[in-house]
Amino acid sequence: MAPKVTVEDIGRTLSVPPGANLREALLDAGVTLYPFVAALANCRGHGFCGTCRVQVTAGDDNLTGRTAAETKKLRKRPDLRLACQIAVRGDCSVRTLP
Ligand code: FES
Repeated sequence: MAPKVTVEDIGRTLSVPPGANLREALLDAGVTLYPFVAALANCRGHGFCGTCRVQVTAGDDNLTGRTAAETKKLRKRPDLRLACQIAVRGDCSVRTLP
């Protein structure tokens, strides 16, 4: 069954293929993921810019684990994740633009 990603701050739930990249799934669904100019000037999912931040509010166990890029970029916000580094394996809830 397709995992469901609930985007709490906009009240939408998306069905995504198992193993989907969270950044790509959100962007494909038209969810605003990047603040301001980062929408144009981001690293396109390579884990370098740190602008695709999300807060996982439920289902953390259904996501792949924190990567080295996240550890480096989110040193001051360990409560957040980088959407581009996450593969979705099951249902979860996130907040964008935290
Ligand atoms: S898109 Fe740059 S870190 Fe995720």
